[in-house]
Amino acid sequence: MKLDIVILAAGQGTRMQSAIPKVLHQIAGVSLLEHIVRTTMLLSHDTTPIVVYGHQGEQLKQSLKHPVIWVHQTQQLGTGHAVQQALPHLTDSEYTFILYADVPLVSFTTLQKILEKTTKNTIGIVTATVPNPTGLGRIIRNQQNDICKIIEEKDASDSEQTIHEINTGIYLIPTDYLKKQLPTLKNHNAQNEFYITDMIEIALKDDIKIVDVQPDHYQETLGINTREQLAQLERFYQIEQAKKFLQNGVTLIDPNRFDVRGDVNIGKDSVIDINVILEGKVKIGERCFIGPHCILRNVTLGNDVEIRAHSILDGAMVSDHCMIGPFARIRPDTTLASHCHIGNFVEIKKSAIGFGTKINHLTYIGDSEIGKQVNIGAGTITCNYDGKNKHKTTIEDHAFIGSNSALIAPITIHTGATIGAGSTITRDAPANQLTLTRVKQKSIINWQRPIKTEKEKT
Ligand code: UD1
Ligand code: CA
Repeated sequence: MKLDIVILAAGQGTRMQSAIPKVLHQIAGVSLLEHIVRTTMLLSHDTTPIVVYGHQGEQLKQSLKHPVIWVHQTQQLGTGHAVQQALPHLTDSEYTFILYADVPLVSFTTLQKILEKTTKNTIGIVTATVPNPTGLGRIIRNQQNDICKIIEEKDASDSEQTIHEINTGIYLIPTDYLKKQLPTLKNHNAQNEFYITDMIEIALKDDIKIVDVQPDHYQETLGINTREQLAQLERFYQIEQAKKFLQNGVTLIDPNRFDVRGDVNIGKDSVIDINVILEGKVKIGERCFIGPHCILRNVTLGNDVEIRAHSILDGAMVSDHCMIGPFARIRPDTTLASHCHIGNFVEIKKSAIGFGTKINHLTYIGDSEIGKQVNIGAGTITCNYDGKNKHKTTIEDHAFIGSNSALIAPITIHTGATIGAGSTITRDAPANQLTLTRVKQKSIINWQRPIKTEKEKT
């Protein structure tokens, strides 16, 4: 079926108290506008949605990756007026979906429901019964329980204001009919705006019936006018995501303290402790454990991986049975082969670490290639940067780097080499030998430590 899709995003969003256009505020790291565009794109792949915008058009256009038709509403004269701006872009489709970008979480299922129910001589709308209808358009039904009107709160009588069934702002209207009657809207109301909701009364006069559907959860159709509502919807969205992981065999110690901002896959019997944030493309294998307060961004973990508390991983590939943290920082382009141990206060950047290698304490590894079963002592630094260029460090299999060593790149530590603690290594270290740079230890006899006088002690 041929569809047109119109998304209204021109409102100023004054109640957000923000310099950023309302529809660019985010839920789960994705803008409100992007949420609704993504959902509508599931409806029909060959439809390019029409987005009606008002302010900061450049910012909006740059924010959106998907191709849409941008239509400028120069003056915000109401939702009906906004749809009027889109009229010249409507095709010869059968139906036009109208949605509000500030109602971003409506599900594909709900849109499908309304698509199934609406026919040639009807208008479909999504309504919801909500605990707190303040500020929303109320649904007025006649004695036959059919919808006969939508009344905005500002135009509603006291008794109409007690109604809890509200207009969600999602409509499906036969395109021909919309083209014919949309120009006839009047702005005779408290706000002197052209309301799209007046199409209901117009339609009834033309013997067009109104059909309605309700979402599975009313929250998915809630609008965002304030930051408080934004925060509430963020939580709703997160809980819905959390439920999916729970259903698929993942343990979340507290689903209320778990945040996903991207495309995330978690294997069975993995356990996620509290306050974990997963961002971007994240794949976690089976039986993994992610400790409290960890952030994983664009990360792939194999099976049986343990990430301990307060670790931050970004752009890393971690193989089976690795142990990382607590307090580790793994930066982009890092790969860890299986059974590696990365301990506290270790930072690794753009490096490949081989099987079974241990880097357990207070270390910086950058631009390095490290072989298998290498042991890197506490306080080791790969000095990869000379102020201009980045240089590579290679540490071959079974090498042992003593604590507090500085390895000045470019450098290679060959197989089985041992570096004595406290060395500054500037040349390649040969295989299977001890290499160290250390000043000979000496003691000074009769040396006197300076002593404070009684006066200086106070
Ligand atoms: C609107 C509905 C109300 C409904 C509620 C659901 C109308 C008249 N009212 O009220 O019945 O219960 O949404 O959340 O439709 N917009 C434009 N151009 C304009 C005005 C608005 O593009 O000139 C866009 C806004 O960016 C927003 C949407 O239309 O995305 C709704 O506008 P808003 O002012 O937020 O309407 P509400 O008061 O929330
Ligand atoms: Ca709104």
